[in-house]
Amino acid sequence: MASDHEDSLLLLLLPTTSPLPTLLAVFLLATVLLWLSPGGPAWALSSPVAHCTLAALSSAADGGKALIAFSVGLTRFVVSSHPDTAREILTSPTFGDRPVKDAARHLLFHRAMGFAPSGDAHWRGLRRRAAAHLFVQRRVAGAAHHRVSIGEAMLSDVSADMARHGEVSLRRLLHAASLNHIMATVFGKRYDLARPEGVLLDEMVTEGYDLLGTFNWADHLPLIKFLDLQGVPPVQREHRARRANGGVDDDEFLADFVDVLLDLEGEEKLSDSDMIAVLWEMIFRGADTVAILMEWIMTRMALHPDIQAKAQSELDAVVGTRSIADDDVVNLPYVQSIVKETLRMHAPGPLLSWARLAIHDAHVGAHLVPAGTTAMVNMWAIAHDPAVWAEPEEFRPERFQEEEDVSVLGSDLRLAPFGAGRRVCPGKMLALATTHLWVAQLLHRFEWAPAAAGGGVDLSERLNMSLEMASPLVCKAVPRSQQA
Ligand code: HEM
Repeated sequence: MASDHEDSLLLLLLPTTSPLPTLLAVFLLATVLLWLSPGGPAWALSSPVAHCTLAALSSAADGGKALIAFSVGLTRFVVSSHPDTAREILTSPTFGDRPVKDAARHLLFHRAMGFAPSGDAHWRGLRRRAAAHLFVQRRVAGAAHHRVSIGEAMLSDVSADMARHGEVSLRRLLHAASLNHIMATVFGKRYDLARPEGVLLDEMVTEGYDLLGTFNWADHLPLIKFLDLQGVPPVQREHRARRANGGVDDDEFLADFVDVLLDLEGEEKLSDSDMIAVLWEMIFRGADTVAILMEWIMTRMALHPDIQAKAQSELDAVVGTRSIADDDVVNLPYVQSIVKETLRMHAPGPLLSWARLAIHDAHVGAHLVPAGTTAMVNMWAIAHDPAVWAEPEEFRPERFQEEEDVSVLGSDLRLAPFGAGRRVCPGKMLALATTHLWVAQLLHRFEWAPAAAGGGVDLSERLNMSLEMASPLVCKAVPRSQQA
């Protein structure tokens, strides 16, 4: 017999499947009202702070942290705001697939790693190859020279902006650096960051669109028609030409991901359009998230001079006045705790970005969740829950050193900004390696303070594909006297 919880959940879910006209009319009316009424769940999903609105709804409903359920149109949703039910959803093979939106299908993303069904040999092959060649520790370590030099170029850009404007808007620099880093790691292409950043970004984004060249974007996005995107994708063409001339690196760890994908054989072999979808996804996933996380971290540094000074003392003790090397990061536990605390308070994917889909009926907590339901985890709600974290609104990196260290890699669902289970973010080690190093470089070279008179920073959030600052951070960066 169904429990009370099951009954209440099914009552919310069943009307969407009923064929009866009366029920359908009631359902349509309810859907419209839900969209229109402030505070309704459907409205919550379209809000720029959906994670906060859903967290409030979950807290308000009895047992709602474990799971709330609602329908939008024909789509049934459940949302977990509790570590236990979050673990059940993220680690269960039943929730191993993702709902594929039409837009993603149009852009071929259903063939990319993030959307392909987890039962397919295609997805398993992509994950295996990416884990073995792109995200394996040795390769992440092998890409250190890219990270270090792109970080150092960013330091020069900060100095140049300070000299020119007396302040620096970090967002533009961080996006350019992050995009450059992904292009270097995944595509084996370097860009000259000394060129004007606007031009650089334009070129890179255009190249990204070029990667989708065999798919007619213009059919779907008329605005980009003028970009004349069709034709042979240049990155693939360059790699094929280099291989034809015997130019591939013998060391598989130095070959870039494009080479790895071109080497796939048999049932793992990718068509050109699949390959473009996979590569394009890496740009989307890899560049944006790291840049957004970096901006939140630097915001916190500007807002908390005491925490910033403590990190700088650690840097001076470990690094002194020489330039920072990638190997230094392991000796910078406080800098690492700053990154961790920012991931807790400002995770780039507060709803873990892309949801999961129930492929069978499943139990989550005390509830029966029917097959076809979209399941989301509100990691933001968990990370801000006073029942889970002491003083959750306090930015306090010390909590990981003096109280309890908590892994961010997916084993502890109190703090899983990269998700968990078989679909956990494959780029997490690369993302952390990059973030740790760049934060260390920026704090080692400069002292950071908000540019606005009064020293304030607007912490308002805006949830697009990731959770951005609604107003870009503008800082003053003063060279530190310890530095040569
Ligand atoms: C701070 C940086 C990042 C954050 C916070 C982040 C977060 C996430 C999250 C929450 C997921 C969904 C996990 C789940 O469903 O359990 C995900 C998936 C994914 N991420 Fe990341 N990510 C970051 C950086 C990166 C980077 C650098 C790359 C690649 C270069 C990457 C590639 C991917 C891919 C391909 C998936 C889909 C995996 C699949 O569905 O099989 N991410 N990421």
